[in-house]
Amino acid sequence: MSDARRGNVADVAPGGPLCLTGRIHVEAGGEIVADTDDVALCRCGHSNNKPFCDGSHRRVGFDDPGLIRGGRLVPAGQAGNEEHVLIVCAKDGPLLVRGPLTVVAADGKTSAGTKGALCRCGMSSTKPFCDGSHRESGFSAS
Ligand code: FES
Repeated sequence: MSDARRGNVADVAPGGPLCLTGRIHVEAGGEIVADTDDVALCRCGHSNNKPFCDGSHRRVGFDDPGLIRGGRLVPAGQAGNEEHVLIVCAKDGPLLVRGPLTVVAADGKTSAGTKGALCRCGMSSTKPFCDGSHRESGFSAS
C-alpha cells in the first residue's frame, strides 16, 4: 500500500462522485449524517440525496475526467490526535475538509492536507476543489 492509500482518502471518480474511505464523519445542517469508513459524496450537484451520491451523475452526463485542475488541501496547524476527517457540508456550498485527508485524482496525483473545500456543485473550474462558482450558479443543496 502506498502512502497515498493510507489514512483517509478521497478518490475522484471520473464523471462520478468523491469516494471517501478511512474514518469519515459527514456533517450537514449541524448534524453528523454519516460516521463511516466508506461513503460516496455527490460532486455533480444533481443528487436527490445530497450530500450522498445517488447515481444522478450518469443521468446528467457529468463530464469530468477526475483530475486535479487547481486548488489543493493545505495543512492547518495541529491535526491533534484525531484520525478521522470531518466533512462539513456548507449550506449551498462546498464540502469543507476538517482533518487529515488525501485527495487522489484519476491519474494518481494527490493533494494531502487537513483543510480545504471540495466542489459539490459540479461547476468549479478547479475541480475537485471549490472555486466559488456555486455562488454564481445558484447551487442549492436542498
Ligand atoms: S461547490 Fe462547486 S464551486 Fe464551490
